[in-house]
Amino acid sequence: MTTTFDFSGRTALVTGAASGLGLAMVRAFVGAGAKVVLFDLDEDSVRAATDTLNADHPGRVTALAGSVTDPAAASAACEAAVDFGGRLDVVMNNAGISGNAPSLELDEATWRRAIDVNLSGAFFVAQAAGRVMAEQGGGGIVNTASMYGVVAAPERAAYCAAKAGVVALTKVLAIEWADRNIRVNAIAPGYVRTALTETLAIQGRLDLGALNARVPAGRLGTPEEIAAASLFLASDTSSYVTGQTLVADGGWSSYSYL
Ligand SMILES: NC(=O)c1ccc[n+]([C@@H]2O[C@H](COP(=O)([O-])OP(=O)(O)OC[C@H]3O[C@@H](n4cnc5c(N)ncnc54)[C@H](O)[C@@H]3O)[C@@H](O)[C@H]2O)c1
Repeated sequence: MTTTFDFSGRTALVTGAASGLGLAMVRAFVGAGAKVVLFDLDEDSVRAATDTLNADHPGRVTALAGSVTDPAAASAACEAAVDFGGRLDVVMNNAGISGNAPSLELDEATWRRAIDVNLSGAFFVAQAAGRVMAEQGGGGIVNTASMYGVVAAPERAAYCAAKAGVVALTKVLAIEWADRNIRVNAIAPGYVRTALTETLAIQGRLDLGALNARVPAGRLGTPEEIAAASLFLASDTSSYVTGQTLVADGGWSSYSYL
C-alpha cells in the first residue's frame, strides 16, 4: 500500500514491531522515508524482521529487544532512536496482548499481565518519549488502543479495561503536552486479519464467516490499512488533531447490532 505521507529525515520508534500491526507500521514508515527503531519482547523475531528490512533499505532500521513493562527499557528504546536518527519524531506505542477469559474465571496473573502490558507499558513508553520530545521541541505519539476500548465484548474484562485506559491516557497526555508541541492520539482497530486471527480461525476459536457478516464493511481489516490510518495521525497532515482516538473498524462500533 502506498501513502502520500513523507517522513524523510524523521525517526520513528515502533513497539510490538516484530509482527502483525507493528510490523506493518514499520514497513509503512520505512516506505514513507523514515528511519525506524523496532522494539519488541521477542528478540529473535525482531532481529529477523530488521535483517529482512535492512536488505531492501540499508541503514534505515535497527532492532532493540525489551519489554514495554520496564520503564528503563522504554527509556532505552527512546534513547536508541535518538542515537540512530538524531531525534525521536514519532512513537507508535503499539505492543499489546489479549488475555481473554470469562470474568468469573479470570485469574489474577492474566488480569495483571494484560493491564501491565497494554496500559502500564503504554504509559511508560509515552512518558519516556514525552521527556525526549519535550526536550527537542515536539513530536507525535500514536497509541494502539482497540475498538474494544470504545465498545465492549464478553470475556475481555482486562483487555477492554486496559484499552479504555489507553483512550483516556491519550486525552490526558495530549492536553498536558500540547503546549510542548507534542501530539498524542490513538488508533483503535477493529478485527484485523493477522497471523493471530488466521491461527485462531484454523483452530476453530474464531469464526471468520461470522465476523465478516458482523462488520458493515463485510470483511476484516488489513494490517496495512491500520498502518495507513496510524501514519495519518503521526503526520503533519493531522497537525491540529490531538487527544483523539481514530476507530478503524469497518463500521463495527457504529452498528448497534439487531
Ligand atoms: N489484530 C487485531 O485484530 C487487533 C485489533 C485491535 C487492536 N489490536 C492491538 O494492536 C496491537 C498489535 O496487535 P497484533 O495483532 O499486531 O498482535 P501481535 O501479537 O501480532 O503483535 C504484538 C507484538 O507485541 C510484542 N509484545 C508483546 N508483549 C510485549 C512487551 N511486553 N514488550 C514489547 N513487545 C511486546 C509481541 O512480541 C508481538 O511481536 C496490540 O496493542 C493489540 O491489542 C489488534
